[in-house]
Amino acid sequence: MYTSLIRPLLFQLDPEKAHHVATRIGTALCSLPGAGPRMVQRYAGNWPRLEQEVLGIRFPNPVGIAAGFDKNAGYTGLLRFMGFGYAEYGSITAKPSPGNPQPRLFRLRKDRALINRMGLNNDGAETVCKHILEKKTAEPPLFENFPCGINIAKTHDPRITGDDAIRDYIASYTFARTAADYITINISCPNTREGKTFEDKKALIELLDGLGEARKNGDPPLLVKFSPDTKSTVSDELVTVCEERSVQGYVLTNTSSKRHGLRTPGEQLEKIGPGGLSGAPLFPGTLNRIARLRRQLPKDRILIACGGIDSPKRAMELLSAGANLLQLYTGLIYQGPALVAKINEFLVRKLHDQGIPSLSQWPRYES
Ligand SMILES: Cc1cc2nc3c(=O)[nH]c(=O)nc-3n(C[C@H](O)[C@H](O)[C@H](O)COP(=O)(O)O)c2cc1C
Repeated sequence: MYTSLIRPLLFQLDPEKAHHVATRIGTALCSLPGAGPRMVQRYAGNWPRLEQEVLGIRFPNPVGIAAGFDKNAGYTGLLRFMGFGYAEYGSITAKPSPGNPQPRLFRLRKDRALINRMGLNNDGAETVCKHILEKKTAEPPLFENFPCGINIAKTHDPRITGDDAIRDYIASYTFARTAADYITINISCPNTREGKTFEDKKALIELLDGLGEARKNGDPPLLVKFSPDTKSTVSDELVTVCEERSVQGYVLTNTSSKRHGLRTPGEQLEKIGPGGLSGAPLFPGTLNRIARLRRQLPKDRILIACGGIDSPKRAMELLSAGANLLQLYTGLIYQGPALVAKINEFLVRKLHDQGIPSLSQWPRYES
């Protein structure tokens, strides 16, 4: 029904407008009397074989919504309704930001992909984290058995660089630690006027050392999210920096600024202009990175695969390559909300067929 009826209607709209329309209708549907809790009961936590403890947190299933879909943590009910096992909210930044001028989100239908240059639009770390805490108090079942990741980034302002940029991250971090079960640092943010990011070794060391000083005992686990565009030698160096600073896991990966191998005509890409590519074309890179890091890192290091997951088969491949958890965004736009339950049901079937009692025993280190 989604691909034959709903998607064609949504795809008539500007992509950002379609996002607002779909999330509003979805939210209204799950707040119909009785609908929300019933659906949550039906989907969330209804796959006991998929439950696992990761980072000391109980995840009801491995499929999470990637950062960017729910920047201000406004759609938790809807996400649970769709069957997600957890959410990564944000990116949030120390100062609220309206983001870049529109249009800033584009579909590449032939590639089942998107390009975005949203510019980190969000209500600001303080507001978003307060909102999460208030919701947790007012509606405890909403967040029960639904881990809350918070992704933090540097405020989208080219004047904030160097030490100010680190202070900016720390400001978000101090709010995020009050509300999050885990925190992801988005390091693909520019740290110089020339656009150099925190994926520069020296900048990353300074950032993680700064955050290290701000961290207290009992703070949520810290993860780092990488771009898919760093060369493997550079990313090895960055991982070493993270490993020396007690980072507990990695989200692989963010969007790409590369455009090679796409079916979308060059002139259309040129018209769209700069932005991060997400969706199906990222999948081979995601798979490579997960497999590579799984071989390099200690077995207890947590890998969250993100980028191009749009089918149960792809989800399974990533788990088999070594991912502990998954995240998706663009797949939802092209395949619809049923994708989440399809992935979970497929994984349950595979576990059952192979006589594996729990996802935590999935043979994930062998490929
Ligand atoms: C519209 C849009 C906004 C995004 N915003 C963020 C963001 O604020 N922070 C972040 O870390 N990643 C952001 N992402 C990247 C996603 O979290 C994810 O890493 C990327 O889209 C690859 O996954 P996918 O192929 O399943 O979409 C965004 C992606 C999209 C499409």
